[in-house]
Amino acid sequence: MRACYLVLSLLAVFVAGMTQKAPECGRWYTILDEIQANLFNEGRCGNQAREAIRLTFHDGIGRSAALQASGRFGGGGADGSIIKFAHTELANPANDGLEDVVYALKHFADNHNVSYGDIIQFAGAVALSNCPGSPRLAFHFGRPQAIAPSPPNLVPSPSDSAEQLLARMEDAGFTADDTVALLAAHSLAVQRTIDPSIPGTPLDSTPGEFDAQFYLEMLLKGTAYPGKGHSSAEAKSPMKHEFRLASDAAVARHSSTACKWQSFIGDQRGLQASFRDAMLKLANQGFDDLVDCSDVIPIPRRSNRLLQYPTGKNYSDIEQFCPDVPFPGL
Ligand code: HEM
Ligand SMILES: *[C@@H]1O[C@H](CO)[C@@H](O)[C@H](O)[C@H]1NC(C)=O
Ligand SMILES: *[C@@H]1O[C@H](CO)[C@@H](O)[C@H](O)[C@H]1NC(C)=O
Repeated sequence: MRACYLVLSLLAVFVAGMTQKAPECGRWYTILDEIQANLFNEGRCGNQAREAIRLTFHDGIGRSAALQASGRFGGGGADGSIIKFAHTELANPANDGLEDVVYALKHFADNHNVSYGDIIQFAGAVALSNCPGSPRLAFHFGRPQAIAPSPPNLVPSPSDSAEQLLARMEDAGFTADDTVALLAAHSLAVQRTIDPSIPGTPLDSTPGEFDAQFYLEMLLKGTAYPGKGHSSAEAKSPMKHEFRLASDAAVARHSSTACKWQSFIGDQRGLQASFRDAMLKLANQGFDDLVDCSDVIPIPRRSNRLLQYPTGKNYSDIEQFCPDVPFPGL
């Protein structure tokens, strides 16, 4: 009888332990279901998912060691200021195209009493999980609400030089290697605002997959503009239906980043791991006492596509900028 009681109480403790694992994370499962159904169209890697991924960056990049040192702006980062102070931050042309996701996420955060900084990083991690080939990002919550808008000029511009971009990223806490890895997000990207005459033009040939195809195609010789080509934010692209941002082309070709860039071609695992680590920095740096709810983030599907040269292209079309390392064979 006594043994039986012991077994039962051990079982009870065990079951309670299983179901109460991180009880603070409970509400995030509810939010997960709601944003998958109502924001991401039943868990798709579509326009809303891409906007949500981009938003993690446009919120998180709002921090500056230089401004902090001079006492002009402390804190910031992934604090949700782009939602809390939307009227200020969305007036910045660098944030064009993010209006819909900003207002949608504000609504979810208000309904569930979670902070804007938390909902942005959560939605970005969930959005990525909808896109095959993505790494499964960590997610922590507990960011306090923002107290001030992000100052102007902290979001990098697509017409910046590589030096300007890398300096801005470093001021926000990212190494040159981090920056190269973060740009993997553009393997999922399309443009709508740089040349509005061709909205939806992708930045690589596989915008539905998180993959190194973007890194490969970025090193193909640019031959023409897919549209009007009137913007200093645009570089010639190798293919008619592909859009190349001047900033991406510049980072791929700069002496301090070219070898890291090339190294990701054919290294999907390495790309996933580096992106995951850099995203953790983007989401969490500057915050203490966050609660780990990474288990809530769904496991992304694998990508079954093999890296390949686009039709009609081959190694002879590659411009190599990493002098010391042979170009990866595909
Ligand atoms: C380092 C400098 C970066 C620059 C200059 C830059 C610039 C841009 C520009 C100009 C667009 C096109 C926007 C449009 O016309 O709709 C874009 C799209 C995008 N960017 Fe970046 N970006 C950078 C880094 C990042 C990072 C770090 C991430 C995420 C971690 C990111 C995620 C995205 C996504 C997902 C899109 C597609 C948005 C959509 O389809 O609505 N970008 N980026
Ligand atoms: C919302 O959350 C804050 C802290 O995160 C808490 O202090 C407050 O009581 C909550 N409000 C409601 C209505 O639950
Ligand atoms: C590579 O493509 C060019 C045309 O762009 C073609 O002339 C050449 O024969 C191709 N080389 C190989 C090895 O397929």
